[in-house]
Order: sequence, then structure tokens, then C-alpha cells
Amino acid sequence: MSDKATLQLQGKTYEFDVSIGTEDERCIDISTLRSETGFITMDPGFGNTGSTFSSITYVDGANGVLRYRGYPIEDLATKTTFVEAAYLILYGELPNKEQLTHFSNQLREHAWLHTNLEHHFSGFPKSAPPMAILSAMLNLVSCFHPEVLDVHSDGPEFDRTAALLLSKVRTIAAFSYRMAAGKPFNQPNPNLSYCSNFLHMMFTMPYQEYIAPKVVENALKLFLVLHADHEQNCSTSTVRVVGSSRANLFSSVAAGVCALWGPLHGGANAAVIRMLEDIRESGRPLDHYLDMAKDKNNPYRLMGFGHRVYKNFDPRSIIMKKQVHEVLNELNKTDPLLEIAMELEEKTLADDYFVSRHLYPNVDFYSGILLRAIGIPLNMYTVMFAIGRMPGWISNWRELLEHNQRISRPRQIYTGQSARKFIPLEDR
Ligand code: CMC
Repeated sequence: MSDKATLQLQGKTYEFDVSIGTEDERCIDISTLRSETGFITMDPGFGNTGSTFSSITYVDGANGVLRYRGYPIEDLATKTTFVEAAYLILYGELPNKEQLTHFSNQLREHAWLHTNLEHHFSGFPKSAPPMAILSAMLNLVSCFHPEVLDVHSDGPEFDRTAALLLSKVRTIAAFSYRMAAGKPFNQPNPNLSYCSNFLHMMFTMPYQEYIAPKVVENALKLFLVLHADHEQNCSTSTVRVVGSSRANLFSSVAAGVCALWGPLHGGANAAVIRMLEDIRESGRPLDHYLDMAKDKNNPYRLMGFGHRVYKNFDPRSIIMKKQVHEVLNELNKTDPLLEIAMELEEKTLADDYFVSRHLYPNVDFYSGILLRAIGIPLNMYTVMFAIGRMPGWISNWRELLEHNQRISRPRQIYTGQSARKFIPLEDR
């Protein structure tokens, strides 16, 4: 294969380098296109645009493949803890025992929140969306730990900042729930695992310690591992865009939280449950909802369906669905929403609209049912996604700096008014 791409434009021929990734992914390097030709490319939504070379996560959308640092998601989901997966994503290798102990100790050390930071929670109204609180509080953390404002992509400073963020995000998330519920904060317990500690901070009541059943702890661990990274998605790209101005890690991930909040991205996990509840309560047939989703004059979409990259199946959805069944079984629970979800999936698989557009359940379709089963309240679902995605955001922020990437600054084609004469107010 030629290692050059040829472009013919207005009677001239231009050549551009072609690069190939480890997994045979191909790109045309158009970084000199504008300077050589005066043209730019137009790709709204960036469906055809590579923004970086990355060695963190590989996704093959046609074949439903997802790997962190080369390890298949199917292995990581069942064989690692979230802390191991986070270490892998951050540092490129699975930790040995010593590295894991050191990393876990760092997470333990940083779990607490400054008491003045704690006081800020009382300034939020009880109805404040936890995603708004999370984003605001992540920015605020940097005010209490000014050293994290220095931008470091390696060395002990980076290790400390990354551990501080990974640990405090979990405490902030749990405290935002406790604040909204009018319940006292539970301080982190250093003797608990990452997931058990979060569940303790969420659910322990005065004189009534919550000890997470193993099945609940494992379900949360699997949820977080499945969300830990997903290459250049909307929120990770946001983190990279913000970080490209050399903004510190905390403000970059706070922006990532905002991007994740939207219902087309991480907000879909809560939207799926609202949709399933709506179907259940309305008593209308599923076809009614399918018809609405297919109607081009109706903005209604089936939440938890479709993906920009996965075109046959989302491997996370397969793992999540299996886990939902196992957890419900072990907890001896049933969930009427699971029945509706499976029936909906079955119907879409037999419907040409969905099949021809490659619309299959994505990670968010079954994840809400899993979170319901382990007692996480609905308004916290997207926050749970944010906790899970933290290693990916941090690692992408770091890689951007290591590559010394230019500031993100796309171009546009202007379609507004041409230059015109100013009209003074009295003449308008
Ligand atoms: N329900 C009905 N139709 C859909 C759906 C859906 N969920 N998703 C896409 N389509 C249709 C869309 O109308 C379009 O049809 P046509 O070609 O006739 O105009 C076609 O499928 C392609 O859709 P698109 O909007 O161009 O696809 P996209 O790659 O830009 O968007 C998506 C991907 C995930 C935003 C979209 O599928 C969607 O809105 N899904 C529902 C929200 C959701 O579940 N989001 C979670 C995504 S996975 C986890 C994450 O990233 O957070």
C-alpha cells in the first residue's frame, strides 16, 4: 500500500502522509492541508477526524472490541479491581503487588475532604443536580490544594495529583448524595476497598454501619471498570480540548463532567430508566415507543440505543446485561424494568429501522438496572459514570501533555453577512 494519499484540487496534485496504527487503523495526515491548499476539511461531529495518536484504549466498532492498554474488557471486567484497572490506564501496565499497595495507600491518604470544602456543600440547594455539584466541587478542590494547579504530566507530582483526584471524586460524589438527602456525611474508612468505601460513605447511618455485600461491591467494581475509558468520546475530547490550553487537571476534568452530563452521552443511563418507567407506567405497547423513535418528525429516541463507533454490538452492554441477571439472582430480587428492557431489545433486533442503522443497546441500556439493583439513586447514575471515567480522563490529559499537543482550535466556514456599513442607533 502507498504511504501517501494524493489529492487533486483545482488542477493541482497534493500528497499527504498516511499513518497506520498498531491495529491497522489508517489515517491521512492533513496537518499541512490548509497551508498548502488554502482549504480546510468540514466534519461536524468529528465522525471522520482523528484528534490524536493514543496508546491508552483501542475500540474496534465493527467487531465490538474494547481493550485498555491491550487487555480485553472481558478479562478486565471480571479479573481486576477498579483500582488495578485505573493504574493500568494511567501507567500502561497492570500493577505488581508492591505498586498496587503503594497506589492504594495513596488513594487512602487522599480520600478525606478539607472541612472548609465540606462546608461548601451546604451552599447548594437540596435539589441541586449532583452532576452540577460534582463539576463545581472538582474545581473547588484545587482551591484547597493549590499545588494541583501546577501542570505536571509525570513524576511524583503527577502521581499525587492523579491519586488525589481519583480518591476525592468518590468522596465528593457520596457527600453530594448525603447533602441532598439531608443525611450526615460519613467520613471515608481507610480499611475498606475503593468500592466498599464509596458504598459506606453513601449508605452508613448513625450507629448503623453499612457493610456492602460482596455481590454489591463486585457489581459496582464491574460497573466502574466498564466505564474506565473509551478513547476520544465527547467528555474525554472535552478534557483534552480544555487541557490543550494547559489548564490544570482539575478544571479539565470538571469540564469533562459537564460534557458527560448530557443525555446523548453519560446522561443516557438515567434517561434509560426514565424511559422504561414511562413505558411501564403508561401501559402503552412497546410499538408505540418504537414508532415514536422511528418518526423523523419526532425528536424522541430510544435511550441506550446506538453508538457512534460500535456498529454491531457494544461489548460493555453484553457484559452489563449478564451482570444484571447475576446480581438480581444473587440478591433474590426481580425488576420489572429488566423485562421491558429485554423485550424492547428483542423488538429492535427484528426491526429494519434499527438493524439498518446499526442501533443496538449501548453500555447505558442495562447499566441503570444494575445501579438500581444495588440501591444507587437515579440522580446519581451519571455521577457513577463520572467516577468510573476518571482514569480515562486523567490518562488522556496526561498523554496530551506528553505529546506536547497544540492548543485545540478548529476552524469554520463563515456563512454570515459580508462586511457592511455600520448604522447608527438613530437611523435603525
Ligand atoms: N433511537 C432512534 N433513532 C436513532 C437513535 C436512537 N437511540 N440513535 C440514532 N438514531 C438514528 C438517527 O435518527 C439517524 O437516523 P437517519 O440516518 O435516518 O437520520 C441514525 O440513527 C444515525 O444517528 P446519528 O444521530 O447520526 O448517530 P450518532 O453517531 O451521531 O449518535 C448517539 C450516536 C449515541 C448519540 C445516538 O445513537 C443516540 O442519540 N442514542 C441515544 C442516546 C444514548 O443512548 N447515548 C449513550 C451513548 S453510549 C455511552 C456514552 O457515550 O455515554
